[in-house]
Amino acid sequence: MRIDILTLFPEMFGGVLHTSMLGRAEAKGILEFHAHDIREYSANKHHNTDDYAFGGGAGMVMMAQPVFDCMEAVLNGGSARRILMTPRGRTLTPELARKLASEERLVILAGHYEGLDERINELIDDEISIGDYVLTGGELPAMVLIDCVSRFIPGVLGCSESAEDESFSNDGLLEYPQYTRPADFRGRLVPEVLLNGNHKEINKWRREQSLLKTLRNRPELLERAPLSKADTAFLHEHGWEKE
Ligand code: ADE
Repeated sequence: MRIDILTLFPEMFGGVLHTSMLGRAEAKGILEFHAHDIREYSANKHHNTDDYAFGGGAGMVMMAQPVFDCMEAVLNGGSARRILMTPRGRTLTPELARKLASEERLVILAGHYEGLDERINELIDDEISIGDYVLTGGELPAMVLIDCVSRFIPGVLGCSESAEDESFSNDGLLEYPQYTRPADFRGRLVPEVLLNGNHKEINKWRREQSLLKTLRNRPELLERAPLSKADTAFLHEHGWEKE
């Protein structure tokens, strides 16, 4: 997959896209990243990319011209799924990320300032938010989207890992706690059940820990999770008040 990012701060992307799993995927030729500086496309003498809002109001608005010219140059007559990162978008979910992972090419516009000239929306297929909070710009959200989508592209994760096999896909529950050596770290002991090799007991402990973590941090997920009678009884013992 090729991913182009349109931004006022292309230097923000280097560390994230060229390091660790994404860097490795790029070296393997599975992913290709290009960050483009919108400012270079400004036709304005001072290379401005923002201006005052018609009708007044606080804050500056990103101008249509540099974004249109940058998008046209990057697409160069080709096609791509074009995404705008904005808190006004639909919320990023694993389902949306999996769908985007099947595209051959994405172009991501990272907005800045108080907002974008509405005519820029003509260039956009999807408006995506990473959550109900507002950041200073779309760059970090673009990196979150890229990382999340990349995990669904075959070959990006190691063969022992899987994008499906984690919290939110773990039967609708949050992940259970994990431990590695040593068994005794400064007097903090790994739970005995994990050391005895009894897989039936280990699976029961992990299931219960997942239930507890979900009850504590995301109780609303329990409404949709497929729960056995034993799960429900365990949750009631630990203060769950539903059903
Ligand atoms: N830009 C600023 N905040 C954002 C958010 N929460 N999601 C996507 N883009 C943003």
